[in-house]
Amino acid sequence: MWPVLKLLLLQAICSAQRGVLTEGKQTQQAGHVSVVIVGGTGDLAKKYLWQGFFQLYTSQAGSGHTFSFYGGGLSPDDQGTPVLFDILKHVACSPDTPVERCALLKDQFLHLVQYRQLKTPEDYRALGRHIQETLQGEGMVEAGRLFYLSVPAFAYADIADQVNSSCRPAGGAWLRVVLEKPFGHDLSSAQTLATQLGGSLKDEEMYRIDHYLGKQVVSNILPFRKVNQKFLDPIWNRQHIERVEIVLKETLDVKGRIPFYDQYGVIRDVMQNHLTEIMTLLTMKVPQILSSSEEVLRNKLQIFSHLQPVGTKQAVIGQYQAYTAEVREELNKTTDQFSVTPTFAAVMVHIDSAQYDGVPIVLSSGKMLDERVAYARVLFKNDVFCVQNPDHIHCKPKQIIFHFGHGSLEHPAVLVTKNLFKPELVDGEWREVTEHKDTTVLGFPFSDYYVQAPKVQREPYAELIGHILSGRKDCFISAENLLASWGLWTPLLHSLRGSYPRIYPGGEANGNLLDLRLSATELSYASDSVVIISPETMGGTASESFQVTQGKFRGDDMVSAWGEELIVRLATDLQAAAEAAVSEGGAFHLALSGGSSPLALFERLAQHHLSFPWRETHVWMVDERCMSLREPESNFHSVHEHLLQHIRIPYYNIHPMPVMLRQRLCVEEDGGALLYEKEIAHAVNGSAFHFVLLGVGLDGHTASLFPGEKAHERHGDSLVALTESPVKPHQRMSLTLKAINKAQRVGLLVIGKLKHELLTQLSRVKNKPNKWPITGVHPANGKLVWYLDYDALLG
Ligand SMILES: *[C@@H]1O[C@H](CO)[C@@H](O)[C@H](O)[C@H]1NC(C)=O
Ligand SMILES: *[C@@H]1O[C@H](CO)[C@@H](O)[C@H](O)[C@H]1NC(C)=O
Ligand SMILES: *[C@@H]1O[C@H](CO)[C@@H](O)[C@H](O)[C@H]1NC(C)=O
Repeated sequence: MWPVLKLLLLQAICSAQRGVLTEGKQTQQAGHVSVVIVGGTGDLAKKYLWQGFFQLYTSQAGSGHTFSFYGGGLSPDDQGTPVLFDILKHVACSPDTPVERCALLKDQFLHLVQYRQLKTPEDYRALGRHIQETLQGEGMVEAGRLFYLSVPAFAYADIADQVNSSCRPAGGAWLRVVLEKPFGHDLSSAQTLATQLGGSLKDEEMYRIDHYLGKQVVSNILPFRKVNQKFLDPIWNRQHIERVEIVLKETLDVKGRIPFYDQYGVIRDVMQNHLTEIMTLLTMKVPQILSSSEEVLRNKLQIFSHLQPVGTKQAVIGQYQAYTAEVREELNKTTDQFSVTPTFAAVMVHIDSAQYDGVPIVLSSGKMLDERVAYARVLFKNDVFCVQNPDHIHCKPKQIIFHFGHGSLEHPAVLVTKNLFKPELVDGEWREVTEHKDTTVLGFPFSDYYVQAPKVQREPYAELIGHILSGRKDCFISAENLLASWGLWTPLLHSLRGSYPRIYPGGEANGNLLDLRLSATELSYASDSVVIISPETMGGTASESFQVTQGKFRGDDMVSAWGEELIVRLATDLQAAAEAAVSEGGAFHLALSGGSSPLALFERLAQHHLSFPWRETHVWMVDERCMSLREPESNFHSVHEHLLQHIRIPYYNIHPMPVMLRQRLCVEEDGGALLYEKEIAHAVNGSAFHFVLLGVGLDGHTASLFPGEKAHERHGDSLVALTESPVKPHQRMSLTLKAINKAQRVGLLVIGKLKHELLTQLSRVKNKPNKWPITGVHPANGKLVWYLDYDALLG
């Protein structure tokens, strides 16, 4: 029994399969293999594919296989050939190859490669004929044909069709067509693509690459779980696992890739594929026979059927601050264009099963973060409470880390804290790292861990290319797997469509801005912070120029978002206040400002808030210019134009300011201010408005209370006063600070880049109502909320 088991184990190891031609049931015949890289002079081919195929070629020496390689491109042969051979000059042998042998191998390889224009159906027919003739001319037995489609996804269907009609091998030889992501952008587009491809290729002929599955640590997850099953079985469950984190952090931005990236965002770019694959490898049932592609794929698929749906309550999104400017530049957009594509996201997934019920699995990834690192960590509960000696290993977190790359380690590794168990090595390709490095991993010294690392590091593409040749389908994405993954992510992507990402400055300066809080069912940002840039430090480093406030501005609550979202929030808050007031006292008293800032709000209210209790709402004015209310410049006129004429509000609920009495404008002795004050006192309980909407001018004025007015002294106990503006028309009527500060709720709406500097100043100045009337707004028994858009806040 034991030797058989051991044999199975040995067979099991993904990386051990390199160069092995017989595997599982798919016994393969040695013979000639034709490799065609469509897009053979493109970036991916240049960086990874030719190198991978060269390695394949050298590792296959003596296997009985012979090869020919074709680099396909759209250019004619005379142009494409030199480009291709320029790329091929750079292929490298493994470091242990003697120089002369390497030169010989490269020379042989170059002789096997040729460039071919692949543009029209005729080009594919000619290629098919050429392969056939080569085989016949040399009297070779054909093993198979491998087409690597390194082209944009929209070209897949057409190329697959050409391959099917002109390049299918005859007899028993195989056809394998390799595809790169993106495989669609949601469930239905992925289904469409699958259907299109299905007309030309059989499922077993398609190899969808996720290069993460070629990373050594990733392909080691299942073998590691298998050889350490005796340690893991008792603890790999909800009783012991605190949470699972799958993290891919990048420091780069997406400059240069915006036309692609802005359509996709971080969830489609890396979460739907790489991080989801890792999640399934960590949580799927360990197969009885690791080398059985079928069993691996089946078990993987099973996990998807147990995933609970993910909604906006389990996700947060962010966007680095410079992103919008990059979008405007690369997509040639106007300056009022902004993008809501997330460049950071964190999502919590739950698996509905007895084994994992309630275990949070957090997937997170972002651009412009503080470090480049990718890992998955399984954190276990630790029930030891250390009374003394908290540095002792027993007091520390128990965790297993699959470290895929970068970060503080220069090599990929699997780390197990010494308070868990000493893991077995998977096979001859892995070694134990015993030298204690002067480094920390996720905050703990290297010496806290048992560490395993691959003896030789290999490129994922080279690994996967080897697996294609040996038919290792479990290292690729099956159609069912792909659709199941989109099935998980598509509903979330749809419900996030209207959401606005949190803006983060990038790099170290992100501070704690992107930290997460997990509850049993929800994931959110740990702080309500937003970011304020201060002009003095603009020239300094990013970390100096950002100051973070905790959802507060000048000590009062703050709501901040992009312009449109902000208006939606304010309108929603207004309606909530209206409904509460009406249900409590039968009426809602709202005082509105003029100016341009609230126009978008008025329009939003008129168009979208059909259930707003207008019939019970009284509309008052915060201030008015001394002019006929028919003049377009009057505040009332603007409120009427943009709001009142569109809603069903009783006309006796509308309270314009009496700026014209006895056919004269704002004459003190006509007593207009006093009249309005009496009207307020009569209609509004305690003269306390339910909601006062204010703006702020560049000089710090609010309502029509201007700097230098000495409002406190002059207005005394009045609720309404005549005031003087420094700009025309000079005469105004305005609610006083006294009236404003009686309100139950004051909303201060500030939008637009122009206000940025003002906000920065306001964020520091003390209360000096004579100099900055806005700083005199402090509702005595109510609440002040600042509604600030990102343009005003961030500049
Ligand atoms: C390939 O093309 C042939 C016709 O040349 C067609 O009958 C077949 O259905 C196509 N698809 C597959 C998967 O073979
Ligand atoms: C960008 O816009 C400018 C002005 O509208 C135009 O001249 C230019 O051709 C555009 N460039 C691109 C790449 O669309
Ligand atoms: C008027 O206000 C007072 C104090 O705020 C409150 O106790 C009372 O219930 C209010 N009356 C009405 C009719 O809302």
